[in-house]
Amino acid sequence: MATKKTSGKAKTATKAAAPKAAPKTAPKKAPREAAPKKDAKPKAAAAPAAAQAVSPAVRPGAELVKHEEHAPVIREEGELTVRESAVPATVETIVAAPAPKAGASKSAARGEGMLREISPRPKPQGNPYKPMPATVAEVIQETGNIKTLRVILDNPEDMKSFTHEPGQVGQLSVFGAGEATFVINSPPSMKDYLQFSVMQAGEVTAAIHRVSPGDKVGVRAPLGNFFPYNDWKGKNIFFVGGGIGMAPIRTIMLHLLEHKADYGKISLLYGARTPRDMAYSYELEDWLRRPDLDCTLCIDAPFEGWEHKVGLIPNVLLELNPDPTNCVAVLCGPPIMIKFTVQALQKLNFAPENIVTTLEKRMKCGIGICGRCNIGGRYVCVDGPVFTWKELQELPPEL
Ligand SMILES: Cc1cc2nc3c(=O)[nH]c(=O)nc-3n(C[C@H](O)[C@H](O)[C@H](O)COP(=O)(O)OP(=O)(O)OC[C@H]3O[C@@H](n4cnc5c(N)ncnc54)[C@H](O)[C@@H]3O)c2cc1C
Ligand code: FES
Repeated sequence: MATKKTSGKAKTATKAAAPKAAPKTAPKKAPREAAPKKDAKPKAAAAPAAAQAVSPAVRPGAELVKHEEHAPVIREEGELTVRESAVPATVETIVAAPAPKAGASKSAARGEGMLREISPRPKPQGNPYKPMPATVAEVIQETGNIKTLRVILDNPEDMKSFTHEPGQVGQLSVFGAGEATFVINSPPSMKDYLQFSVMQAGEVTAAIHRVSPGDKVGVRAPLGNFFPYNDWKGKNIFFVGGGIGMAPIRTIMLHLLEHKADYGKISLLYGARTPRDMAYSYELEDWLRRPDLDCTLCIDAPFEGWEHKVGLIPNVLLELNPDPTNCVAVLCGPPIMIKFTVQALQKLNFAPENIVTTLEKRMKCGIGICGRCNIGGRYVCVDGPVFTWKELQELPPEL
Protein backbone atom coordinates (compact mmCIF):
# COMPACT_ATOMS: atom_id res chain seq x y z
CA MET A 1 0.00 0.00 0.00
CA ALA A 2 1.26 3.47 -0.79
CA THR A 3 2.02 5.51 2.28
CA LYS A 4 1.84 8.90 0.58
CA LYS A 5 -0.41 11.50 2.19
CA THR A 6 -3.41 12.27 -0.01
CA SER A 7 -6.40 14.55 0.30
CA GLY A 8 -9.97 14.17 -0.84
CA LYS A 9 -13.55 14.11 0.27
CA ALA A 10 -15.25 11.84 2.74
CA LYS A 11 -18.11 9.85 1.31
CA THR A 12 -21.58 10.89 2.42
CA ALA A 13 -24.70 8.91 3.15
CA THR A 14 -25.69 8.71 -0.44
CA LYS A 15 -22.67 6.68 -1.47
CA ALA A 16 -21.19 3.56 -0.01
CA ALA A 17 -17.41 3.54 0.41
CA ALA A 18 -15.77 1.70 -2.42
CA PRO A 19 -14.07 -1.45 -1.23
CA LYS A 20 -10.39 -0.88 -1.00
CA ALA A 21 -7.32 -2.73 -0.02
CA ALA A 22 -5.76 0.23 1.68
CA PRO A 23 -6.76 3.58 3.18
CA LYS A 24 -6.68 6.31 0.58
CA THR A 25 -8.33 9.64 0.99
CA ALA A 26 -8.58 12.33 3.62
CA PRO A 27 -12.06 13.48 4.66
CA LYS A 28 -13.77 16.63 3.70
CA LYS A 29 -13.60 18.93 6.74
CA ALA A 30 -17.01 19.04 8.36
CA PRO A 31 -18.38 22.43 9.32
CA ARG A 32 -15.69 23.52 11.78
CA GLU A 33 -13.73 19.50 13.05
CA ALA A 34 -47.81 31.51 38.16
CA ALA A 35 -46.58 34.15 40.09
CA PRO A 36 -47.77 34.26 43.76
CA LYS A 37 -50.68 36.49 44.62
CA LYS A 38 -49.71 39.97 45.73
CA ASP A 39 -49.93 39.60 49.50
CA ALA A 40 -49.19 35.90 49.69
CA LYS A 41 -45.93 34.91 51.38
CA PRO A 42 -43.78 32.13 49.86
CA LYS A 43 -43.48 29.30 52.41
CA ALA A 44 -40.71 27.22 50.91
CA ALA A 45 -38.01 27.85 48.36
CA ALA A 46 -38.88 26.30 45.01
CA ALA A 47 -35.80 24.14 44.58
CA PRO A 48 -35.89 22.27 47.89
CA ALA A 49 -39.61 21.62 47.42
CA ALA A 50 -38.98 20.03 44.05
CA ALA A 51 -36.07 18.01 45.34
CA GLN A 52 -38.16 16.72 48.25
CA ALA A 53 -40.83 15.70 45.78
CA VAL A 54 -38.55 13.21 44.06
CA SER A 55 -36.15 12.02 46.69
CA PRO A 56 -38.25 9.42 48.60
CA ALA A 57 -38.76 7.38 45.44
CA VAL A 58 -35.12 6.55 44.84
CA ARG A 59 -32.33 4.73 46.61
CA PRO A 60 -30.52 6.67 49.31
CA GLY A 61 -27.16 7.96 48.26
CA ALA A 62 -28.25 8.93 44.78
CA GLU A 63 -26.48 11.94 43.37
CA LEU A 64 -28.42 15.17 42.83
CA VAL A 65 -27.82 17.31 39.77
CA LYS A 66 -29.13 20.81 39.46
CA HIS A 67 -31.14 21.93 36.48
CA GLU A 68 -33.67 24.55 35.45
CA GLU A 69 -37.26 23.46 35.77
CA HIS A 70 -40.72 24.90 36.31
CA ALA A 71 -40.68 24.07 39.99
CA PRO A 72 -43.70 24.58 42.26
CA VAL A 73 -43.99 27.46 44.67
CA ILE A 74 -45.73 26.71 47.95
CA ARG A 75 -47.39 29.53 49.84
CA GLU A 76 -50.01 30.01 52.51
CA GLU A 77 -53.37 31.60 51.81
CA GLY A 78 -55.31 31.78 55.02
CA GLU A 79 -55.82 28.19 56.22
CA LEU A 80 -54.81 26.73 52.87
CA THR A 81 -51.41 25.69 51.55
CA VAL A 82 -51.33 26.50 47.84
CA ARG A 83 -48.98 24.81 45.37
CA GLU A 84 -48.36 26.66 42.14
CA SER A 85 -46.11 25.78 39.26
CA ALA A 86 -44.59 27.63 36.33
CA VAL A 87 -41.88 29.50 38.16
CA PRO A 88 -38.59 28.53 36.55
CA ALA A 89 -36.09 27.59 39.21
CA THR A 90 -33.05 25.45 39.76
CA VAL A 91 -34.07 22.04 40.98
CA GLU A 92 -32.20 18.83 41.58
CA THR A 93 -32.68 15.50 39.88
CA ILE A 94 -31.39 12.24 41.20
CA VAL A 95 -28.75 10.52 39.16
CA ALA A 96 -26.58 7.57 39.91
CA ALA A 97 -28.17 5.81 42.85
CA PRO A 98 -25.62 3.42 44.32
CA ALA A 99 -25.82 -0.02 42.78
CA PRO A 100 -25.99 -2.99 45.12
CA LYS A 101 -22.75 -4.94 45.62
CA ALA A 102 -22.74 -8.47 44.26
CA GLY A 103 -23.98 -10.80 46.96
CA ALA A 104 -25.05 -7.87 49.14
CA SER A 105 -27.82 -8.26 51.70
CA LYS A 106 -31.38 -7.17 50.89
CA SER A 107 -31.02 -3.92 52.78
CA ALA A 108 -27.73 -3.19 51.06
CA ALA A 109 -29.36 -4.04 47.74
CA ARG A 110 -31.95 -1.37 48.51
CA GLY A 111 -29.06 1.00 49.03
CA GLU A 112 -29.56 1.48 52.77
CA GLY A 113 -26.54 3.03 54.37
CA MET A 114 -24.65 3.08 51.08
CA LEU A 115 -23.09 6.25 49.80
CA ARG A 116 -20.49 6.28 47.13
CA GLU A 117 -18.57 8.87 45.27
CA ILE A 118 -18.88 9.34 41.57
CA SER A 119 -15.89 10.93 39.95
CA PRO A 120 -16.42 14.44 38.61
CA ARG A 121 -17.27 14.47 34.91
CA PRO A 122 -19.24 16.56 32.41
CA LYS A 123 -22.98 15.77 32.61
CA PRO A 124 -26.07 16.54 30.55
CA GLN A 125 -27.26 20.07 31.09
CA GLY A 126 -30.90 20.51 31.98
CA ASN A 127 -33.24 17.54 32.24
CA PRO A 128 -31.06 14.44 31.68
CA TYR A 129 -34.03 12.50 30.26
CA LYS A 130 -34.77 15.08 27.59
CA PRO A 131 -32.93 14.64 24.30
CA MET A 132 -31.43 17.81 22.87
CA PRO A 133 -32.74 18.34 19.33
CA ALA A 134 -29.93 18.12 16.80
CA THR A 135 -29.46 18.14 13.04
CA VAL A 136 -27.33 15.69 11.09
CA ALA A 137 -24.64 17.72 9.33
CA GLU A 138 -22.78 14.92 7.60
CA VAL A 139 -22.95 11.14 7.20
CA ILE A 140 -19.83 9.19 6.31
CA GLN A 141 -20.09 5.61 5.07
CA GLU A 142 -17.14 4.07 6.87
CA THR A 143 -17.59 0.41 5.97
CA GLY A 144 -20.38 -1.86 4.76
CA ASN A 145 -22.07 -1.72 8.17
CA ILE A 146 -20.62 1.34 9.93
CA LYS A 147 -21.69 4.93 9.39
CA THR A 148 -20.37 8.05 11.09
CA LEU A 149 -22.78 10.86 11.89
CA ARG A 150 -21.67 14.41 12.59
CA VAL A 151 -24.49 16.18 14.39
CA ILE A 152 -24.96 19.79 15.48
CA LEU A 153 -27.15 20.63 18.46
CA ASP A 154 -29.99 22.89 17.29
CA ASN A 155 -29.74 25.32 20.18
CA PRO A 156 -26.53 27.31 19.60
CA GLU A 157 -26.21 27.75 23.37
CA ASP A 158 -26.30 23.95 23.85
CA MET A 159 -23.63 23.56 21.20
CA LYS A 160 -21.44 26.30 22.64
CA SER A 161 -21.59 24.99 26.19
CA PHE A 162 -21.35 21.29 25.29
CA THR A 163 -18.30 19.64 26.74
CA HIS A 164 -17.30 16.00 27.11
CA GLU A 165 -14.30 13.92 28.07
CA PRO A 166 -12.79 11.16 25.91
CA GLY A 167 -14.64 7.89 26.52
CA GLN A 168 -17.98 9.45 27.45
CA VAL A 169 -21.02 8.31 25.54
CA GLY A 170 -24.29 9.74 24.31
CA GLN A 171 -27.77 8.36 23.72
CA LEU A 172 -28.61 9.09 20.10
CA SER A 173 -32.30 8.91 19.18
CA VAL A 174 -34.26 8.72 15.98
CA PHE A 175 -37.88 9.76 16.35
CA GLY A 176 -40.20 6.80 16.17
CA ALA A 177 -37.37 4.26 16.46
CA GLY A 178 -35.82 4.81 19.90
CA GLU A 179 -32.40 5.60 21.26
CA ALA A 180 -29.12 3.72 21.63
CA THR A 181 -25.73 4.35 23.19
CA PHE A 182 -22.64 5.41 21.24
CA VAL A 183 -19.25 6.81 22.14
CA ILE A 184 -18.79 10.48 21.30
CA ASN A 185 -15.78 9.90 19.09
CA SER A 186 -14.95 13.46 18.17
CA PRO A 187 -12.22 14.76 20.49
CA PRO A 188 -13.32 17.33 23.11
CA SER A 189 -11.46 20.05 21.19
CA MET A 190 -13.92 19.67 18.27
CA LYS A 191 -16.56 22.28 19.05
CA ASP A 192 -18.39 22.34 15.70
CA TYR A 193 -20.16 18.99 15.91
CA LEU A 194 -20.46 15.76 17.87
CA GLN A 195 -19.40 12.63 16.05
CA PHE A 196 -20.87 9.14 16.53
CA SER A 197 -19.86 6.02 14.58
CA VAL A 198 -22.68 3.50 14.42
CA MET A 199 -22.45 -0.16 13.48
CA GLN A 200 -25.76 -1.57 12.31
CA ALA A 201 -27.00 -4.15 14.83
CA GLY A 202 -30.79 -3.94 15.18
CA GLU A 203 -33.78 -1.63 14.98
CA VAL A 204 -32.38 1.65 16.30
CA THR A 205 -29.06 1.39 14.53
CA ALA A 206 -30.88 0.52 11.29
CA ALA A 207 -32.96 3.70 11.69
CA ILE A 208 -29.78 5.70 12.36
CA HIS A 209 -28.29 4.26 9.17
CA ARG A 210 -31.29 5.63 7.24
CA VAL A 211 -30.80 9.28 8.29
CA SER A 212 -29.40 11.84 5.85
CA PRO A 213 -27.83 15.26 6.26
CA GLY A 214 -30.52 17.70 7.38
CA ASP A 215 -32.52 15.09 9.34
CA LYS A 216 -33.37 15.66 12.98
CA VAL A 217 -32.11 13.40 15.77
CA GLY A 218 -32.02 13.64 19.57
CA VAL A 219 -28.94 13.58 21.79
CA ARG A 220 -28.65 12.90 25.52
CA ALA A 221 -25.04 13.47 26.46
CA PRO A 222 -22.46 13.36 27.83
CA LEU A 223 -22.97 10.22 29.95
CA GLY A 224 -20.66 7.90 31.85
CA ASN A 225 -17.08 8.18 33.00
CA PHE A 226 -14.02 8.73 30.83
CA PHE A 227 -10.47 7.51 30.28
CA PRO A 228 -8.34 8.57 33.28
CA TYR A 229 -5.76 10.22 31.03
CA ASN A 230 -4.57 12.61 33.75
CA ASP A 231 -3.21 9.59 35.64
CA TRP A 232 -1.30 8.51 32.53
CA LYS A 233 0.93 11.56 32.26
CA GLY A 234 4.59 10.65 31.71
CA LYS A 235 3.65 7.11 30.65
CA ASN A 236 3.78 5.28 27.34
CA ILE A 237 0.34 4.45 25.97
CA PHE A 238 -0.40 1.42 23.82
CA PHE A 239 -3.82 1.58 22.14
CA VAL A 240 -5.46 -1.53 20.70
CA GLY A 241 -8.65 -1.08 18.64
CA GLY A 242 -10.69 -3.81 17.00
CA GLY A 243 -13.47 -3.06 14.50
CA ILE A 244 -16.00 -0.52 15.84
CA GLY A 245 -13.89 -0.49 19.03
CA MET A 246 -11.71 2.00 17.18
CA ALA A 247 -14.40 4.66 17.92
CA PRO A 248 -13.51 5.25 21.61
CA ILE A 249 -9.81 4.71 20.85
CA ARG A 250 -9.94 7.43 18.19
CA THR A 251 -11.25 10.01 20.68
CA ILE A 252 -8.73 9.35 23.43
CA MET A 253 -5.84 8.88 21.01
CA LEU A 254 -6.49 12.18 19.24
CA HIS A 255 -6.85 13.89 22.61
CA LEU A 256 -3.50 12.55 23.85
CA LEU A 257 -1.80 13.46 20.57
CA GLU A 258 -3.05 17.03 21.08
CA HIS A 259 -1.24 16.95 24.45
CA LYS A 260 1.67 14.79 23.35
CA ALA A 261 4.24 16.62 25.50
CA ASP A 262 2.56 15.16 28.60
CA TYR A 263 2.98 11.55 27.49
CA GLY A 264 5.70 9.16 26.44
CA LYS A 265 5.51 6.99 23.33
CA ILE A 266 2.02 6.61 21.86
CA SER A 267 1.35 3.45 19.83
CA LEU A 268 -1.74 2.14 18.06
CA LEU A 269 -2.54 -1.38 16.90
CA TYR A 270 -5.77 -1.28 14.88
CA GLY A 271 -7.21 -4.48 13.48
CA ALA A 272 -10.24 -5.41 11.40
CA ARG A 273 -11.39 -8.50 9.54
CA THR A 274 -10.52 -7.10 6.10
CA PRO A 275 -9.30 -3.71 4.81
CA ARG A 276 -12.92 -2.95 3.89
CA ASP A 277 -13.92 -3.29 7.54
CA MET A 278 -11.54 -0.54 8.68
CA ALA A 279 -13.39 2.57 9.83
CA TYR A 280 -11.70 5.97 9.45
CA SER A 281 -9.79 4.65 6.40
CA TYR A 282 -9.35 8.27 5.25
CA GLU A 283 -7.38 9.06 8.45
CA LEU A 284 -5.14 6.00 8.48
CA GLU A 285 -2.61 7.37 6.00
CA ASP A 286 -2.12 10.34 8.28
CA TRP A 287 -1.82 8.17 11.37
CA LEU A 288 0.76 5.96 9.64
CA ARG A 289 2.89 8.96 8.74
CA ARG A 290 2.70 10.89 12.03
CA PRO A 291 6.08 11.02 13.77
CA ASP A 292 4.34 11.18 17.18
CA LEU A 293 2.36 7.96 16.65
CA ASP A 294 3.62 4.42 16.11
CA CYS A 295 0.74 2.98 14.10
CA THR A 296 0.34 -0.69 13.11
CA LEU A 297 -2.60 -1.98 11.07
CA CYS A 298 -3.62 -5.61 10.79
CA ILE A 299 -6.29 -7.74 9.15
CA ASP A 300 -7.31 -11.31 9.90
CA ALA A 301 -6.31 -12.96 6.60
CA PRO A 302 -4.19 -12.09 3.52
CA PHE A 303 -5.86 -9.63 1.12
CA GLU A 304 -4.63 -8.53 -2.27
CA GLY A 305 -2.78 -5.21 -2.09
CA TRP A 306 -2.53 -5.21 1.72
CA GLU A 307 0.94 -4.21 2.83
CA HIS A 308 0.51 -4.25 6.58
CA LYS A 309 0.31 -7.00 9.20
CA VAL A 310 -1.83 -10.08 8.76
CA GLY A 311 -3.06 -11.95 11.84
CA LEU A 312 -5.45 -11.77 14.75
CA ILE A 313 -4.94 -8.79 17.03
CA PRO A 314 -3.66 -10.77 20.07
CA ASN A 315 -1.06 -12.55 17.91
CA VAL A 316 0.10 -9.33 16.25
CA LEU A 317 0.31 -7.76 19.69
CA LEU A 318 2.57 -10.57 20.93
CA GLU A 319 4.71 -10.10 17.84
CA LEU A 320 5.02 -6.34 18.49
CA ASN A 321 5.99 -7.20 22.06
CA PRO A 322 5.38 -3.79 23.73
CA ASP A 323 7.38 -3.12 26.88
CA PRO A 324 5.00 -3.08 29.90
CA THR A 325 7.35 -0.84 31.92
CA ASN A 326 5.65 2.48 32.59
CA CYS A 327 3.03 1.66 29.95
CA VAL A 328 -0.79 1.67 29.95
CA ALA A 329 -2.60 -0.53 27.44
CA VAL A 330 -6.00 0.77 26.33
CA LEU A 331 -8.15 -1.65 24.35
CA CYS A 332 -11.64 -1.53 22.87
CA GLY A 333 -13.38 -3.99 20.61
CA PRO A 334 -15.70 -6.98 20.58
CA PRO A 335 -15.73 -9.10 23.77
CA ILE A 336 -13.89 -12.01 22.14
CA MET A 337 -11.07 -9.72 21.05
CA ILE A 338 -10.85 -8.13 24.50
CA LYS A 339 -10.69 -11.54 26.16
CA PHE A 340 -7.77 -12.82 24.09
CA THR A 341 -5.98 -9.47 23.92
CA VAL A 342 -6.02 -9.23 27.71
CA GLN A 343 -4.50 -12.72 27.86
CA ALA A 344 -1.77 -11.56 25.48
CA LEU A 345 -1.13 -8.45 27.58
CA GLN A 346 -0.87 -10.59 30.69
CA LYS A 347 1.68 -12.78 28.90
CA LEU A 348 3.59 -9.57 28.19
CA ASN A 349 3.47 -8.79 31.94
CA PHE A 350 1.08 -5.83 31.85
CA ALA A 351 -0.40 -5.41 35.35
CA PRO A 352 -4.24 -5.52 35.57
CA GLU A 353 -4.34 -1.90 36.73
CA ASN A 354 -2.45 -0.87 33.58
CA ILE A 355 -4.97 -2.50 31.25
CA VAL A 356 -7.94 -0.23 30.51
CA THR A 357 -11.01 -1.13 28.47
CA THR A 358 -14.63 -0.14 27.87
CA LEU A 359 -17.76 -2.24 28.41
CA GLU A 360 -20.74 -2.19 26.10
CA LYS A 361 -23.50 -3.22 28.45
CA ARG A 362 -26.89 -2.28 27.11
CA MET A 363 -28.26 0.95 28.69
CA LYS A 364 -31.62 2.64 29.09
CA CYS A 365 -31.63 5.70 31.36
CA GLY A 366 -27.86 6.23 31.19
CA ILE A 367 -27.90 8.05 34.53
CA GLY A 368 -27.88 5.32 37.17
CA ILE A 369 -31.60 5.05 37.89
CA CYS A 370 -33.20 2.18 35.97
CA GLY A 371 -30.71 -0.58 36.87
CA ARG A 372 -30.60 -1.89 33.28
CA CYS A 373 -26.83 -1.86 32.99
CA ASN A 374 -25.56 -3.29 36.25
CA ILE A 375 -22.78 -5.85 36.51
CA GLY A 376 -22.65 -7.03 40.08
CA GLY A 377 -22.43 -3.89 42.14
CA ARG A 378 -21.49 -1.53 39.34
CA TYR A 379 -23.54 0.39 36.81
CA VAL A 380 -21.83 0.65 33.45
CA CYS A 381 -23.60 3.96 32.77
CA VAL A 382 -22.10 5.76 35.77
CA ASP A 383 -19.17 3.62 36.99
CA GLY A 384 -18.17 2.96 33.39
CA PRO A 385 -18.04 2.41 30.51
CA VAL A 386 -14.28 2.74 31.18
CA PHE A 387 -12.82 0.21 33.61
CA THR A 388 -9.37 -1.14 34.41
CA TRP A 389 -8.89 -4.88 34.11
CA LYS A 390 -8.26 -4.89 37.87
CA GLU A 391 -11.73 -3.41 38.46
CA LEU A 392 -13.34 -5.91 36.11
CA GLN A 393 -11.69 -8.83 37.89
CA GLU A 394 -13.63 -7.82 41.01
CA LEU A 395 -16.96 -8.07 39.13
CA PRO A 396 -18.95 -11.10 37.93
CA PRO A 397 -17.49 -12.20 34.56
CA GLU A 398 -18.92 -10.32 31.59
CA LEU A 399 -16.52 -11.25 28.83
C1 LIG B 1 -21.21 2.32 26.57
C2 LIG B 1 -21.56 1.86 25.18
C3 LIG B 1 -20.92 2.42 24.10
C4 LIG B 1 -21.24 2.00 22.80
N1 LIG B 1 -20.63 2.61 21.75
C5 LIG B 1 -20.95 2.22 20.50
C6 LIG B 1 -20.36 2.88 19.39
O1 LIG B 1 -19.58 3.85 19.50
N2 LIG B 1 -20.72 2.45 18.15
C7 LIG B 1 -21.59 1.39 17.97
O2 LIG B 1 -21.85 1.04 16.82
N3 LIG B 1 -22.16 0.77 19.01
C8 LIG B 1 -21.88 1.16 20.27
N4 LIG B 1 -22.50 0.55 21.32
C9 LIG B 1 -23.44 -0.56 21.05
C10 LIG B 1 -24.80 0.02 20.64
O3 LIG B 1 -25.35 0.75 21.74
C11 LIG B 1 -25.74 -1.12 20.25
O4 LIG B 1 -25.27 -1.71 19.09
C12 LIG B 1 -27.14 -0.58 19.99
O5 LIG B 1 -27.74 -0.25 21.24
C13 LIG B 1 -27.98 -1.60 19.29
O6 LIG B 1 -29.29 -1.06 19.19
P1 LIG B 1 -30.31 -1.64 18.14
O7 LIG B 1 -31.69 -1.20 18.56
O8 LIG B 1 -29.92 -1.29 16.77
O9 LIG B 1 -30.14 -3.18 18.29
P2 LIG B 1 -31.10 -4.21 19.04
O10 LIG B 1 -32.28 -4.46 18.15
O11 LIG B 1 -31.40 -3.71 20.41
O12 LIG B 1 -30.15 -5.43 19.12
C14 LIG B 1 -29.62 -6.06 17.95
C15 LIG B 1 -28.64 -7.13 18.37
O13 LIG B 1 -27.51 -6.52 19.02
C16 LIG B 1 -27.39 -6.99 20.35
N5 LIG B 1 -27.03 -5.82 21.18
C17 LIG B 1 -27.65 -4.66 21.26
N6 LIG B 1 -27.04 -3.82 22.11
C18 LIG B 1 -25.97 -4.49 22.56
C19 LIG B 1 -24.93 -4.17 23.46
N7 LIG B 1 -24.83 -3.00 24.09
N8 LIG B 1 -23.99 -5.11 23.69
C20 LIG B 1 -24.05 -6.28 23.07
N9 LIG B 1 -25.01 -6.64 22.20
C21 LIG B 1 -25.95 -5.76 21.96
C22 LIG B 1 -28.73 -7.55 20.72
O14 LIG B 1 -28.64 -8.56 21.70
C23 LIG B 1 -29.20 -8.10 19.40
O15 LIG B 1 -28.63 -9.35 19.15
C24 LIG B 1 -22.21 0.98 22.61
C25 LIG B 1 -22.87 0.43 23.71
C26 LIG B 1 -22.56 0.87 24.97
C27 LIG B 1 -23.32 0.33 26.14
S1 FES C 1 -28.93 2.41 35.51
FE1 FES C 1 -30.15 2.88 33.78
S2 FES C 1 -28.78 2.48 32.17
FE2 FES C 1 -27.52 2.30 33.88
